[in-house]
Amino acid sequence: MYHVKVKVCKDPAEVGKLAADLFENLIAEKPAGVIGLATGSTPLPLYRELIAREKAGKIDFSRVHSANLDEYKGLAPDHPQSYRRFMQENLLDHISIKYENTIVPDGLCEDVDAMCEAYERQIEEWGGVDLQLLGIGHDGHIGFNEPCDHFPAKTHEVELTEMTRDANKRFFDSIDEVPTAAFTMGCGTVMAARKIVMVITGKDKADILNAAFYGPVTPEVPASILQFHPDVTLICDEAAYSKVGK
Ligand code: F6R
Repeated sequence: MYHVKVKVCKDPAEVGKLAADLFENLIAEKPAGVIGLATGSTPLPLYRELIAREKAGKIDFSRVHSANLDEYKGLAPDHPQSYRRFMQENLLDHISIKYENTIVPDGLCEDVDAMCEAYERQIEEWGGVDLQLLGIGHDGHIGFNEPCDHFPAKTHEVELTEMTRDANKRFFDSIDEVPTAAFTMGCGTVMAARKIVMVITGKDKADILNAAFYGPVTPEVPASILQFHPDVTLICDEAAYSKVGK
């Protein structure tokens, strides 16, 4: 078993700063590197920190490439709840990365298999993901890889569970507007990244942090597969870490 590096911070702001250090170091070593990005609430302090660091001249995103984990099926890139729009508003529009060097699965694609294959191919053509950012769902999902009986390998379409739709309904006017399907990198796509950083904050994530990193590796907890990756850093706050060893 590989050893996950664990850093416990006092609060989400410090989680953002420590995670930003990993991106700053990667881009200093590899200015045209490929970063894997996630949406959700947990990465927001990190994204604010990355924007501030580029403004302060500590990071240069102008040659960086980015690939996002996932997108809702049926949402246009400019839909207020699309993950493309989330990324533009919370990070990409505020740094010097070139739009053409950023990819998010196409929520409106007609040929799902072709889009998913092209997504994998683009990442490969860029040389693979150097540093993949992940958050975790309350059910242990990474990207939109929900608990099931296997670890999905590649980018694919998924049906969303009621738990995930319910957790995400806060961003929509009603639960009926939350899409029922999405496109996501597979667990295999994620595991192919050279380095992975997972950020977890809040007491409500304490049980799943414990299950994912200190329980058995099982597709019923998709994030547990990270225990088999050679270079994972878990950066969490004290609240999220509070169930470990208890
Ligand atoms: C987002 C994603 C999801 C989130 C997870 C946690 O692109 O793939 O797996 O990382 O749902 O979301 P938050 O951070 O909002 O709790």
